[in-house]
Amino acid sequence: MNQEELETIEIELLLEGIYRYYGFDFRNYAVSSIRRRIWHRIRAERLTSISGLQERVLHDARVMEQLLADFSINVTEMFRDPGFFLAFRQKVVPILRDYPFIRIWHAGCSTGQEVYSMAILLHEEGLFDRTRLYATDMNEHVLRRAKTGTFPLDKMQLYTKNYLAAGGTRAFSEYYTVKSDQAIFEPFLGDNIVFAQHNLATDRSFNEFHVIICRNVMIYFDETLQNRVHDLFYDSLCMSGFFGLGNREGVVCTSHANDYEEVDGLEKIYRKVR
Ligand SMILES: C[S@@+](CC[C@H](N)C(=O)[O-])C[C@H]1O[C@@H](n2cnc3c(N)ncnc32)[C@H](O)[C@@H]1O
Repeated sequence: MNQEELETIEIELLLEGIYRYYGFDFRNYAVSSIRRRIWHRIRAERLTSISGLQERVLHDARVMEQLLADFSINVTEMFRDPGFFLAFRQKVVPILRDYPFIRIWHAGCSTGQEVYSMAILLHEEGLFDRTRLYATDMNEHVLRRAKTGTFPLDKMQLYTKNYLAAGGTRAFSEYYTVKSDQAIFEPFLGDNIVFAQHNLATDRSFNEFHVIICRNVMIYFDETLQNRVHDLFYDSLCMSGFFGLGNREGVVCTSHANDYEEVDGLEKIYRKVR
């Protein structure tokens, strides 16, 4: 047996232990990124082996929290990939206008920038009052930050640029007030957002939605988990509902390829047709 095979066994044992003890299921995450993050944690804890990390993680919940933070990559921006929000505004919003009530699920919402962006967009389009946005993530620490609706002030220049490229028509600064180095977003934007912990790898559907958005999350999953999560989204979406994946993913290689028609080919926005 070579070193690589041994490492694979150690990784599998570590992930199995985490699942059985803590309930977090990383067993079907893409191996290359999981391996990188495991070795990062091994070095940070001044350990030398994956087995050493397993021992530490199972006996010290603090190390598990650190590893959870390592595994859940939280990079996000307001109006990230503005073309997605522009396409949503131009191609989805006109259809949503006929809906009396709209439920949107942002799965893997990280620190909340994506769902706050959607709240702003819907507010400008006059749809916010009849929308309930459900923003979920497996990581309760990022959810706690998301709930504050407060983002770093030094990011506002980038977020303003994104907002304008996404079809925003106002002064972005209308939406926040500044307190020291933070931008505090208008509290009304949070009124129709429900934040909740939900793990796509282990939890079930919890409602039926008119729109599901899941961007930059499934890229960290292996094919088996991606397919399982696609089943979950399919089951959670109303007929004719919209499914937004963003420009790095798609449904073509999944078992649901024929269940959706394309609304925007570049930004991978689909509509459930069967
Ligand atoms: C890179 S962020 C994407 C944030 C946002 N969707 C965006 O595109 O800007 C990925 C998020 O997915 C979350 N995540 C990873 N695995 C998950 C799982 N199994 N269930 C729910 N959320 C998960 C992470 O905690 C992280 O906050």
